[in-house]
Amino acid sequence: MLKVESVNLLQVKDLHTSFHTLDGIARAVDGVSFEVGEGETVGLVGESGCGKSVTALSILRLVDAPGRIESGEILLRGRNLLTLPKKEMRAVRGGQISMIFQEPMTSLNPVFTIGDQVIEAVRLHQKLGVAEARQEAIEMLRKVGIPSPEQRIDSYPHQLSGGMKQRVMIAMALVCRPSLLIADEPTTALDVTIQAEILDLLAALQGELKMAVLLITHNLGIVAGMARRVVVMYAGKVAESAETADLFENPRHPYTMLLFKAVPRLDTPRLSRLEDIKGVVPNPKRWPAGCRFHPRCPYAIEKCSRQEPPLEEKRPNHWAACWVLK
Ligand SMILES: Nc1ncnc2c1ncn2[C@@H]1O[C@H](COP(=O)(O)OP(=O)(O)OP(=O)(O)O)[C@@H](O)[C@H]1O
Ligand code: SF4
Ligand SMILES: [Mg+2]
Repeated sequence: MLKVESVNLLQVKDLHTSFHTLDGIARAVDGVSFEVGEGETVGLVGESGCGKSVTALSILRLVDAPGRIESGEILLRGRNLLTLPKKEMRAVRGGQISMIFQEPMTSLNPVFTIGDQVIEAVRLHQKLGVAEARQEAIEMLRKVGIPSPEQRIDSYPHQLSGGMKQRVMIAMALVCRPSLLIADEPTTALDVTIQAEILDLLAALQGELKMAVLLITHNLGIVAGMARRVVVMYAGKVAESAETADLFENPRHPYTMLLFKAVPRLDTPRLSRLEDIKGVVPNPKRWPAGCRFHPRCPYAIEKCSRQEPPLEEKRPNHWAACWVLK
């Protein structure tokens, strides 16, 4: 897989996660490998349904039935998370790894104040008294740009704007000073100016807290501005993986090329341009034979529908799975 100069914080190796449903097995993540270095931002991109969130949830072992992690390894500083006892895994979750979920607006409990929720997160990780934990929560809310946090801490979620709620979610994810933050579409629910502010905030906090970020998004524009490397997923697999500049200048997979053509601008509605790619992501219960992209690929040759292309190093540190592009 892609080699990075920095020490590997996270190594995902040949991960398979499936959903066993009444009408078949959905192989949502089907042999995914990638790495995240210490302090590095890696973008995970691809259309809706390609397996980005299931990959993220697998890293945290939060895949619920009928889903199950079938095989693979998830190494955090060399320790396989998939074989950890549940108690140790709970300590990793929200300790070394935090996640901002795709639907932040539903992740805050409406009946508790912001303070109740951030203070609880603080006390989960630090043995502090109530007054000290409240002070720490106020500091964290200040760090994420909540104005007058001493007053805002007693607000209920419905009293805050979408952008402010997202800042609170970020504060809760960061109170444990994680080594890795997984941000799953952290801005799609927000309007354009707020999106840009939240991304700037994440970039600033990443530098300050020296944490790595796995940034999941549909938006290659966001990735271009933030990520050092990009992993492109298609149909439960890695289609291409490279340093960001290299990927943008010289994509080696037709799917990545089409994604570039469909780059949504920050001010276009979610997915509107991605729909310009002909066809749809196939059903994970029935992936196409051969290269999974072949029914939609303008470069496809006969071999593509029969044999699956391996992920190859097309040039140093640039990997792609395609028979045609070299
Ligand atoms: N609970 C579930 N039961 C059955 N299938 C599921 C379940 N959760 C996810 N899947 C399937 O797994 C596949 C991958 O889903 P995933 O949520 O990872 O996509 P994604 O890349 O995050 O998409 P989006 O960009 O829309 O968030 C999809 O086909 C989805 O239908
Ligand atoms: S292997 Fe064939 S179908 Fe797959 S991306 Fe390459 S050219 Fe297209
Ligand atoms: Mg998702």
